[in-house]
Amino acid sequence: MQKNKSLAPKSLLLGITGGIAAYKAAELVRLLVKADFDVQVVMTQAACQFITPVTMQALSGKPVFIDMWDSSISNGMPHIELSRSADAILVAPASADFIAKLVHGRADDLLSTLCLARDCPLMIAPAMNKQMWENPATQRNITQIQADGISILGPDSGEQACGEIGLGRMLEAEDLLNLVEAHFQPKLLLGKKIMITAGATLEMIDPVRAITNLSSGKMGYAIAQVAQEMGAEVTLISGASTLKLPLGINIIQATSADAMYQSVMQHVAKQDIFIGVAAVADYRPATQHIEKIKKSKSLLTIEISHNKDILAEVASLPSAPFCVGFAAETENLLEYAEAKRHAKKLPLIVANDANTALGSDENSVTLLDKNGAHPLLKAPKIEIARQLLQHIANML
Ligand code: C5P
Repeated sequence: MQKNKSLAPKSLLLGITGGIAAYKAAELVRLLVKADFDVQVVMTQAACQFITPVTMQALSGKPVFIDMWDSSISNGMPHIELSRSADAILVAPASADFIAKLVHGRADDLLSTLCLARDCPLMIAPAMNKQMWENPATQRNITQIQADGISILGPDSGEQACGEIGLGRMLEAEDLLNLVEAHFQPKLLLGKKIMITAGATLEMIDPVRAITNLSSGKMGYAIAQVAQEMGAEVTLISGASTLKLPLGINIIQATSADAMYQSVMQHVAKQDIFIGVAAVADYRPATQHIEKIKKSKSLLTIEISHNKDILAEVASLPSAPFCVGFAAETENLLEYAEAKRHAKKLPLIVANDANTALGSDENSVTLLDKNGAHPLLKAPKIEIARQLLQHIANML
């Protein structure tokens, strides 16, 4: 049985500066702690005007540092001690003023001093009014700190606290968590091109009715996200799914099995890895009615024809990428999955229980390759994705 946690606990120093987006830092700490990060919060005096240190202490489970002259740090040098114990620093929200301070290496409070004294990566999540963000001074500052090796997460566009609409909002806590996790992910797939199909397909009967299935796309989207975190260049061919589209991934929408086949074949030649996660309909109505079929008392007969098996076709290409399939079964799981692996000529197949996997946030799967079965413990799909891609990276 493979172990569930692919990430060892990491220490993250979360700096909070003065901006209304500081309220989102509370949710961010909660998510980071839930994802096993050891979070140390440091706030500026201005941040304390927006959210209290008590809130951040309760959520992180640790005292919050604000003061340069804090005597509770044993060596009397909180800026050195705090930055040395962090694997990375994230400043969220990072105000326009704080960004300007980073440009000049100013160190007039604890957070700016420990950023200057750091020997670990620094990420910042800017948050400000859109005019402040667009101001040439801020843009110059952003260019400079990027050149200095600081990672800029966001900002997002949308409605702002001041009522204006535009670029400058801090990314949502969940997006920041994903980006921080991506930062810590070993870059096992750096330089690899990977194509993933995900979600259900929709085979239209008439303009308002379709044959589809219960696949949510969660597993395929999770694999796409983790592949990107691991450094791969990702193309996600998405069938029907209501999930939020992941940032920074090349997404092609293809709802029918035929549209998915065409999209895959058009782009697959340059791929190193192909993972068929989509629940592709095996059949489609032989004819698609242009007008809505009228209700009638007599029996409705729909003639059905076969769809192409996308995965099998990709796997039989002369220079096929490394192909991985998913086998969702309700009975004889491993036996049927292994038979599918042979029939489709795949080096690896993921066997999962169709009764529990579809639509769920968690999955428990078994990886089947030429060396046998590798069961993974039940875990969130994002974690299963990490272990699957680590396994693929090992096989490659
Ligand atoms: O044969 P079965 O449909 O169970 O195989 C499932 C695997 O094959 C999945 O990886 C799925 O994405 C892929 N598949 C496909 N095209 C089809 C049917 C299945 O790519 N028409």
